[in-house]
Amino acid sequence: MPATQPPSAPDLDWFIHDRFGLFIHWGLYSLPARHEWVRNFEKISNEDYQKYFDHFDPDLYDPNVWAQEAKNAGMKYAVITTKHHEGFALWDSALTDYKAPCTPAGRDLLHPFVDAFRAQDFKIGFYHSLLDWHHPDYPVDALHPMRDNLELRATNPSRDIRKYADYLHGQTRELLTQFGKIDIMWFDFSYSERSTDWAKGKGKEDWQSEKLNAMVRELQPGIIVNDRLEIGGDVKTPEQYQPRGWMQVDGKPVVWEACQTLNGSWGYHRDNLDWKPVEMLVKMLVDNVSKGGNLLLNVGPTARGEFDPRALETLRGIGKWMHFHSRSIYGCSASEFTPPPDCRFTQKGNRLYLHLFSWPFRHVHLDGMAGRVEYAQLLNDGSEIHMLEIDPHARAQNVSMSGESGVLTLELPIQKPDVAVPVIELFLKS
Ligand code: GLC
Repeated sequence: MPATQPPSAPDLDWFIHDRFGLFIHWGLYSLPARHEWVRNFEKISNEDYQKYFDHFDPDLYDPNVWAQEAKNAGMKYAVITTKHHEGFALWDSALTDYKAPCTPAGRDLLHPFVDAFRAQDFKIGFYHSLLDWHHPDYPVDALHPMRDNLELRATNPSRDIRKYADYLHGQTRELLTQFGKIDIMWFDFSYSERSTDWAKGKGKEDWQSEKLNAMVRELQPGIIVNDRLEIGGDVKTPEQYQPRGWMQVDGKPVVWEACQTLNGSWGYHRDNLDWKPVEMLVKMLVDNVSKGGNLLLNVGPTARGEFDPRALETLRGIGKWMHFHSRSIYGCSASEFTPPPDCRFTQKGNRLYLHLFSWPFRHVHLDGMAGRVEYAQLLNDGSEIHMLEIDPHARAQNVSMSGESGVLTLELPIQKPDVAVPVIELFLKS
């Protein structure tokens, strides 16, 4: 047995620079269009779920259009569900017939995706579910759609999790040897704490995570692996909430990426109208970067293979903001300075970006910034912003404000610029 190479270090520089990625959740669940966990929520059997396999035919699928829309939105990398918990593979896996080529789609859908996004200079990531509700050797447990079916539960003694792990490792090897360079492996998820009196939850032993992780790094040196194998990981992945600060593990700040939906569901959910406004999503992106993190924003394409018009509108709205403001995101991170209330700072070298989450009347005061800024401008149009340092001894009288030492005051126009989040670019004195 050749000595295994020490696992290669992940290449995180591009990831930390690019900050903004596209998450794609696409599979058979796009047909019921009731959330990617529909099989679990509605306890649907393999047999009853088969109709979606038999009708999976995304005739309008054109990943070049997806890539173009994501690029316009300012996204730099893309992570797609190669297989989700339902067990359906988007590529022509030799290890199963539960795959796109065996449906009316009649072809591998993953290569065209990788080619289209690579052609637009995207980095590529593969989401791969550790759970598999379709596989015959995957033991039924508390998260399984058949959890209340005693007959199915009774088959657990004949279900061999080691055989399932071999399958999991085999499909992962296919993904990391048949699609060229893959930049991110996004496994999902471990739940060993979710045990019942009749079945234990699943985690690193079940997935043989150490062995899987070593194989992934050997096959793809420099690849980034997320934190859901229960053995740590290169990137912390908070989900559907905004961290209050730079994420930490054992008290140390770590590389992190929050994954978010457009409307609460990862898979296409037709009747879910809880769409987040563009302004909220831009603020989530800025908030993440101001805390040293990335945003992985999800789209759930329809069963016809297109982005829903509401998703397109949202991406284009973010793209309108990124057109003017992307340099306050790419290559930026948290700042040593503390922003005023309802604002965020992102910083890159001597460029400090003040993001105003609400537009104040006439003035914004920056504590501790007096004497540190040589020039200021609105980023959307490059128009100058006047700076004041009010004498701390000045008395407030009529229109004259009193001052405070160390405070830099910026004079703002009454009209809020017509952008989702106005940004003032401050050129720091070196
Ligand atoms: C959760 C959801 C899963 C989704 C993932 C994305 O694990 O259950 O459906 O794919 O988050 O972060």
